[in-house]
Amino acid sequence: MYILQVQNLSKSFGGLQANRSIGFDVAQGEMLGVIGPNGAGKTTLFNCIAGVHQIDSGRVIFQGRRISGMKSHEIARLGLARTFQIYVASGDLNVKENIMVGCFMRERVRSAAAKAADETLGLFQISHLAKNVVAELPIAAQKRVAMATALATGPRLLLLDEVAAGLNPNEVDEITGLIRSIHAKLGVTIILIEHVMEMVLNICDRVIVLDYGEKISEGTPREVIREPAVIKAYLGERYARQYLEQAENR
Ligand SMILES: Nc1ncnc2c1ncn2[C@@H]1O[C@H](COP(=O)(O)OP(=O)(O)O)[C@@H](O)[C@H]1O
Ligand SMILES: [Mg+2]
Repeated sequence: MYILQVQNLSKSFGGLQANRSIGFDVAQGEMLGVIGPNGAGKTTLFNCIAGVHQIDSGRVIFQGRRISGMKSHEIARLGLARTFQIYVASGDLNVKENIMVGCFMRERVRSAAAKAADETLGLFQISHLAKNVVAELPIAAQKRVAMATALATGPRLLLLDEVAAGLNPNEVDEITGLIRSIHAKLGVTIILIEHVMEMVLNICDRVIVLDYGEKISEGTPREVIREPAVIKAYLGERYARQYLEQAENR
């Protein structure tokens, strides 16, 4: 069963077509990667799915229900959560308060929300940071808080926008492990936009590739990194060869 179906989705800003008739399906429980060069339309696609932007044409169906046309908070209530590429924590809330904002989506009582926040803090191994102001944390910790806050809403589908950007290789490994474990533990379906290809190769079941607003390829990570169009538009010959070797050696 598909949790998400995107059909002929188009979105333009003035004369610029940021998404051109994009279509793909996401199976329940899947981990789908979205890759492509800067400006390809990846973040716009997330914004269109999550109802941040109204789409020009096409449809988005979530759990069998048409969500295109709905407001973003209505879509969030149905169980679709996202992180932002540039994460701005709310005001000067501390980490736990920030996560509680997410928890209030499913828990009305403050004590219940606080308890859910404690569980989420534990899951993301940031309990020791509960009282820290988010904006003052190192970037890797801020990324964890961003993911934790989105996950705290109790989504069925989680959209992650470049959560590994700006992290060092060790931190990338840690966050990869974290995503893998929440995916396995909670059974949440995940779509992730990512430039860190090691991470995509490691955890995605399937990948779609965008270029100039269009989907130019779709398949397993091993399949797409072999495709001439993907190599030309995004990976480059040298990196494609390197990733292919990594994929073979895993
Ligand atoms: N709110 C907006 N208003 C105008 N143009 C936008 C807006 N959001 C994105 N764009 C443009 O749409 C194109 C795709 O951007 P984006 O979706 O952010 O790409 P990506 O995430 O793949 O780097 C870019 O040319 C960008 O400048
Ligand atoms: Mg982006």
